[in-house]
Amino acid sequence: MSRQFRQRVRATLTRVKEGRGGYDLPLEIMIYNEAGKQVGRLRPLGKRYLSKTHAKRLREWRICHGYAFPPSVTPITITSTLRWLNKHVVNNPERCLWYVYPLKGRTPIGHMGLATFDYQKNSCELDNILRGEARQRGLMSMAVRALILWTKHQLRPSKIGLRVMGDNEHAIRFYQQLGFKAVGSKTLSNQLRKMIYAE
Ligand SMILES: CC(C)(COP(=O)(O)OP(=O)(O)OC[C@H]1O[C@@H](n2cnc3c(N)ncnc32)[C@H](O)[C@@H]1OP(=O)(O)O)[C@@H](O)C(=O)NCCC(=O)NCCS
Repeated sequence: MSRQFRQRVRATLTRVKEGRGGYDLPLEIMIYNEAGKQVGRLRPLGKRYLSKTHAKRLREWRICHGYAFPPSVTPITITSTLRWLNKHVVNNPERCLWYVYPLKGRTPIGHMGLATFDYQKNSCELDNILRGEARQRGLMSMAVRALILWTKHQLRPSKIGLRVMGDNEHAIRFYQQLGFKAVGSKTLSNQLRKMIYAE
């Protein structure tokens, strides 16, 4: 097990969620387009996002895109979303979720995160990538690129992967265009397919 990797992950994700950045750790991740112009930013969801307003938004987006995730065994309510956000995201030092903001907008258009750290393999997964609003096409790809760069620089994993439903063709194409490759044998359409970032 890489103890150093584990310590780095836990300390870094805790710091960003608690708003304790510094010269070595900017609190927002800037998103740039191919011409190098800033087009948006990623903001980590810390304690101040534990409100019904945010839980309501996350719930609506999640329900709207239910096909993209393994089926939930219990109904997704505002209360259960708030509980999940509190326990499994904000207060989990091994997970982080960022809102994706356009440069000028005050409301997020989606979210994306990091989770499933494997300290034997020094790897992690992109998690919960979801566009909730139709504005600013192209921003989600640029945001994923920004999150990968940040992750490589701050956390230094050996591998970055993700899991996607085998029948989510749009997402699979989206990830392929970003440099991810499917690994393992082909899965059934309703099962999760693993993809690995290959530079
Ligand atoms: C997967 C997902 C995040 C991808 O988001 P997206 O909106 O397709 O991604 P982008 O913001 O990068 O937009 C890409 C599209 O905009 C187009 N685009 C990029 N820049 C553009 C620009 N400047 N002007 C117009 N169009 C542009 C791209 O060509 C692409 O079009 P296409 O979808 O027809 O190929 C989104 O589909 C989603 O949330 N799906 C539901 C949840 C989900 O499946 N999540 C994955 C779980 S594993």
